[in-house]
Amino acid sequence: MDPTRDNPLIRIKAFFDGLGILTFFGVLLLLVLGIAAAFGLFRKGEDPEDVAGKIRYETKSEIDEAQAAVLTPEQISSAIEETGKTLAASKPVAIEKPEQLVPGSVTAIKIANAPADDYSAIDAAPADPAAPIDPAQMEIGKVQFLVCSACHGQNGEGGSIAPPLAGSEWVTGPISNLIKIQLRGLLGPITVAGVDYNFPAPMAAMAYQTDEQIAGVLTYIRNSFGNNAHAVKPEHVAAMRGEVGKPAATVEELTKP
Ligand code: HEC
Repeated sequence: MDPTRDNPLIRIKAFFDGLGILTFFGVLLLLVLGIAAAFGLFRKGEDPEDVAGKIRYETKSEIDEAQAAVLTPEQISSAIEETGKTLAASKPVAIEKPEQLVPGSVTAIKIANAPADDYSAIDAAPADPAAPIDPAQMEIGKVQFLVCSACHGQNGEGGSIAPPLAGSEWVTGPISNLIKIQLRGLLGPITVAGVDYNFPAPMAAMAYQTDEQIAGVLTYIRNSFGNNAHAVKPEHVAAMRGEVGKPAATVEELTKP
């Protein structure tokens, strides 16, 4: 047997050598675990929804803070209330001028594609031009004329905001012109009985009236204030309802009386 082997000093050295090697690997293991932990290898898989949610809440609180610095909650709710009221009270407005048409809009396309309307049948002389005027129609017309008289005068004499209806060649002329003016309104300038008129405000459409009311008021103005012309029938008005919604008519769109 090798006597050196039994040397206790050698045994102690071997023990400490072993301990050193173990310590070395232990430290190495700790180092590796430490690095792995630093890179998050041991972290349990976090729910991606939780991660995203956290970011969202952070963003929301940032926005809330920024808004709170600018607007008070009272200001925000009163703004919402105001807008709501305005929207509730707003109504679609009829198109009065061609410039108000939005190019490419549904209405613009509808108007551009509409075939040129032929109202010659409506304007044709009636079978019996001298047929007496129905008093019931004149009654309806007289009531409707109250509105017209505000601008055109009680006796159709005209005034500072509208031309005369008395002695107007337009009033006793083709009835499709008159129906068109009722359904679409009228945008001057216009010459009536040799006088040129160009009022600041156009005449608004009065398409809210029924066919009977429009036929009545037109028959009334054609047979009052010294005017005399055959009656307008409700079916004439009905045949022209397609005009409603078009911009206010101009003189170029009317048939020369
Ligand atoms: C708010 C004022 C106003 C009212 C209400 C009004 N018009 Fe007019 N009317 C005008 C104006 C203005 C013109 C001329 C267009 C222009 O200058 O832009 C006109 C033109 C006319 C014309 C063609 C020109 C002429 O003098 O012959 C007739 C017809 C007419 N209106 C009939 C009527 C009838 C019928 C009513 C009632 C159902 C009526 N208007 C209601 C303002 C009005």
